[in-house]
Amino acid sequence: MESIQAIKQRFGIIGNDPKLNRAIEKAIQVAPTDISVLVTGESGVGKESIPKIIHQLSHRKHGKYIAVNCGAIPEGTIDSELFGHEKGAFTGATQTRSGYFEVADGGTIFLDEVGELPLTTQVRLLRVLENGEFIKVGSSKVQKTNVRIVAATNVNMFEAIKKEKFREDLYYRLSTIEIPLPPLRERKDDIHLLFRKFASDFALKYKMPTVKLTDDAISILLKYRWNGNIRQLRNVAEQLSVLEQDRTINAVTLQNYLPNAGSNLPAVISTSKAESDFSSEREILYKVLFDMKSDLNDLKKLTMELMKKGSSSEVQKEHEHLIQKIYGDDDKSEDIDSAVEDLEVLSIPEHSEVIESDSNTVGDKYHFAEEIEEEETLSLQDKELELIKKSLERHNGKRKLAAAELGISERTLYRKIKQYDL
Ligand SMILES: Nc1ncnc2c1ncn2[C@@H]1O[C@H](COP(=O)(O)OP(=O)(O)OP(=O)(O)O)[C@@H](O)[C@H]1O
Ligand SMILES: [Mg+2]
Repeated sequence: MESIQAIKQRFGIIGNDPKLNRAIEKAIQVAPTDISVLVTGESGVGKESIPKIIHQLSHRKHGKYIAVNCGAIPEGTIDSELFGHEKGAFTGATQTRSGYFEVADGGTIFLDEVGELPLTTQVRLLRVLENGEFIKVGSSKVQKTNVRIVAATNVNMFEAIKKEKFREDLYYRLSTIEIPLPPLRERKDDIHLLFRKFASDFALKYKMPTVKLTDDAISILLKYRWNGNIRQLRNVAEQLSVLEQDRTINAVTLQNYLPNAGSNLPAVISTSKAESDFSSEREILYKVLFDMKSDLNDLKKLTMELMKKGSSSEVQKEHEHLIQKIYGDDDKSEDIDSAVEDLEVLSIPEHSEVIESDSNTVGDKYHFAEEIEEEETLSLQDKELELIKKSLERHNGKRKLAAAELGISERTLYRKIKQYDL
């Protein structure tokens, strides 16, 4: 059996913390079996190495290893991604497609952010875990697969179970063995070691001398909370390596890179609050702008439909969800009625030339929407990017908190992070 030290070297894992060593030891012990494993720990603690170790040390190492980020796949397509679909199962399913569970037959699937799986997918997953059976979307044929499942989560699964977002039976199936990874703040002896390793890596990468910390900077580093754990420490090391001319970093300089460093001091809290009050006011304005833009696009769509069809009741029926979105959800029926009343005021006679006309006709009234969109799209995208960046920074990269602050779902935030390459 390979030693813990050898495994660390092979998988680039730094640190000597007893809890980290125990996690690696558990991964080594469980690898030759087919037992399901759940890796738990805060964001950025290094959960992704564990399933790789398990796969590589198992008899499945020549089989496929597929890592799936359950939080990044839209709810509507996740069943088809995981289990495949039959031709014609839904619009756009032009061909039969194999899912990951079929492709990874004989190998390992890593289900990252498993807590994000929709409940319907959880039912399918439970079946695979129970007897290796699954059914493609749109099919009635039961198929078999032999896949080892390693899952990971940074959310409190018990809370998710309590809120009925995660099935308790599935949790127990997935977590036959749980491998918890400690947060960085509990690995005091590893913090400076990791920093030195990252600083030396970045010095090589950017061809600059390695940054070094003074003693008081080291003590700040050790006391800091590291909500974003090793990922955050790595980012700080990279920023310092790139931005600081003076390669000896003192406590004052370091603190500039650590959000909320020393936030237990009341004075610091009040200053930062005053600052954020101003910026959040601006951010609220941006948010209002985004919402307005989205409403405007919805209204444009409705208007076009009305212009094409000329019958408000037909459009009302077809676009009920849009009307609800624009005019609000509460007291549904009343709002839809009044929305339609308003729409009728806007409705355009069934003369198609109105749409084509390009001078002072009714059609022109709606041209403003196009212009506004063209002029503002770019700058709005910039603002949105800035908004997302700031929110992520404020929450040390925690997507859940950032999404809640931005008023969007975690899934949407994930897509935006991908879209903007953050
Ligand atoms: N012990 C370690 N030594 C060196 N680098 C590490 C170690 N642990 C984690 N890292 C690095 O930290 C970063 C974050 O690790 P990883 O992506 O595995 O986090 P995670 O636990 O999966 O977080 P999340 O829940 O947010 O997905 C990666 O770049 C990884 O290489
Ligand atoms: Mg991860």
